[in-house]
Amino acid sequence: MRWFSHAIIEKNLLLMGVLTLITVSIGGLAQIVPLFTVESTIERVEGVRPYTPLELAGRNIYVREGCYLCHSQMVRPFRDELERYGHYSLAAESMYDRPFQWGSKRTGPDLARVGGRYSDDWHAAHLRDPRAVVPESIMPPYAFLDRPLNIGDVADHLRTQAALGVPYTAEMISNARADLIAQARPDMDGSGFTARYARARQGVFDGNTAVVTEMDALVAYLQMLGTLVRFSDVTPEQVRQQ
Ligand code: HEC
Repeated sequence: MRWFSHAIIEKNLLLMGVLTLITVSIGGLAQIVPLFTVESTIERVEGVRPYTPLELAGRNIYVREGCYLCHSQMVRPFRDELERYGHYSLAAESMYDRPFQWGSKRTGPDLARVGGRYSDDWHAAHLRDPRAVVPESIMPPYAFLDRPLNIGDVADHLRTQAALGVPYTAEMISNARADLIAQARPDMDGSGFTARYARARQGVFDGNTAVVTEMDALVAYLQMLGTLVRFSDVTPEQVRQQ
């Protein structure tokens, strides 16, 4: 004789409700509880640092212009994506993103690893007039970004990020303005700047050093995307910690 009949559950609403709740809770707990310990959720990988002041300004422009409406920044662990974009995104790579830019809409390609894929000149030309470099592009032009960048409030942006938990030091905040200018002016001494921000690059991002523009900031930001973690340094164990 069967000691337990499914018919009993199906005919007893309360019993069915309680058992459903228990079953669903087990799945929910398995997914949600590990997230409470963020330290173990984010892999410990070398190289991820807070954005430089110029990159942060560029990121703010990216958000302001709604680039995320057409571009995601998350390579998923599927073969076609790995072949097209490179290593799938790690949680650590967006741990200083407030707010994150993962996105779900890909009218254009994923940008999580676009850094270093093209030259600065290519990016500036593409942003000014996408169809000048990619004739079939449907991306809108952003030539107006060749206007001066508002750098008056850059220290406040760093301070706000620090309040949200991004590890900007007091030294980084007090040097924010100088570091922003140094990154866009390779002719200036950038030793303090490069000591504060590992793997950061000085450049003439928009092709002109006369004035720091919004274009400089956005190109500097695009050029660092996905470049902080050297995947040759990451062991499978570190990734498996996820
Ligand atoms: C209406 C949708 C749309 C918007 C908004 C948009 N893009 Fe694009 N973007 C595209 C499409 C489509 C492509 C692919 C064709 C091309 O390269 O122009 C693209 C390509 C790119 C590429 C080249 C990527 C690669 O791997 O080849 C970059 C970089 C880029 N966009 C940056 C931006 C930035 C920065 C913004 C915001 C200022 C932005 N896009 C806004 C649609 C968009």
